[in-house]
Amino acid sequence: MSLPPRHQHHLQKRIENNSLRSLTTVNKLIDFSSNDYLGLSRNKALWQIIQDSKTTKSNGSTGSRLLTGNSDCAIAVERFLALQFQSQATLVFNSGYNANLSVLSTLPLRNDVIYYDELSHASIKDGIRLSLAKKASFKHNDLVDLEKKLKAQTEGDTYVVVESVYSMDGDICDLQALVQISKRHKAYLIVDEAHATGLMGINGGGLSETLGLQNDIFCRIYTFGKAMGIHGAAIAGSNELIQYLINFARPFIYTTAPPDHHYAAIKCAFEFLNQHPELKEKAQLQTKYFTQQANSILGNKYKRTNSNHPIQTILIEGNDEVRQLAKHLQYKGFDVKPILSPTVKEGQERLRICIHSFNTNDEITALIDTLAAYS
Ligand SMILES: Cc1ncc(COP(=O)(O)O)c(C=O)c1O
Repeated sequence: MSLPPRHQHHLQKRIENNSLRSLTTVNKLIDFSSNDYLGLSRNKALWQIIQDSKTTKSNGSTGSRLLTGNSDCAIAVERFLALQFQSQATLVFNSGYNANLSVLSTLPLRNDVIYYDELSHASIKDGIRLSLAKKASFKHNDLVDLEKKLKAQTEGDTYVVVESVYSMDGDICDLQALVQISKRHKAYLIVDEAHATGLMGINGGGLSETLGLQNDIFCRIYTFGKAMGIHGAAIAGSNELIQYLINFARPFIYTTAPPDHHYAAIKCAFEFLNQHPELKEKAQLQTKYFTQQANSILGNKYKRTNSNHPIQTILIEGNDEVRQLAKHLQYKGFDVKPILSPTVKEGQERLRICIHSFNTNDEITALIDTLAAYS
């Protein structure tokens, strides 16, 4: 049966704009695009540790956590994560998308107001869309704009949502100032630590851990599919917060719980990270090497966002243009992906280059030389 005409029209428009999305498989090129910042997804030692972990007793969890899907293993890993993230409690989710959907659709109630950074991830925006609260975006990382909006609010509780590291720009938020602003305006601060999990903080607890602000943040979201190299997510906060989510978060309640091997993998990955702090240092070192090389070799040839994070950018306006450059880099052996509009705003199309602990200096220099030679 064919698609309804309006859907066909949407697809046709994507084809015409050169923005049609399609699924591709992993290639053999040099990885400058995955979120596997520390190489943990391909780390053979960690793989073996996960296979050997004796916590795995079943194939599937058989139901929602509230029915038959809970287990001693799930509870033990959530306790372990609470120690790791220095929170009273944690709750594991199938994905970061599900965690953000849960937090934002559940906590802010009717007549409350959610203020969110305009560059927030789709999972934050989708959670906000599901909420009955009022919503307002503020300009990216612009705390003057945020505070102006907070001052104008007249009723309801206030929620402020930010990402510690922004997924498309690699820049970070001013978390210390956000904590102060939230205290001044009695706002509940929610921080998505997706791209800081495992990379920042001795325990991998993100920017909030680096700055020692864990207790000043109402709700922290950690995801495990990026630097941790596995899958899933957890929310860290007070016992009350976790109890509330268990009772009211529909994306937590109405889904089959992850199987025990999922929890076992989370624990193994964090224990591995605790034993290998050099991986974080290497990712940082290689990122510094990239920015130094890019500054000296590329100069002003391309616009870039200001980032010390492994997420680096080359801004190229236009879907066609950025696609062409990505294709050229791929032809030369580098896996670099174009980020097209509408994933980013029109005019903000870019190459999103991810640096990893395993990228060598030679690979990084070769990538930059290829960018320099491109015309
Ligand atoms: C900032 C941010 N939050 C949440 C998510 C969703 O996490 P997950 O991939 O685990 O669903 C992503 C994924 O790209 C992200 O970049």
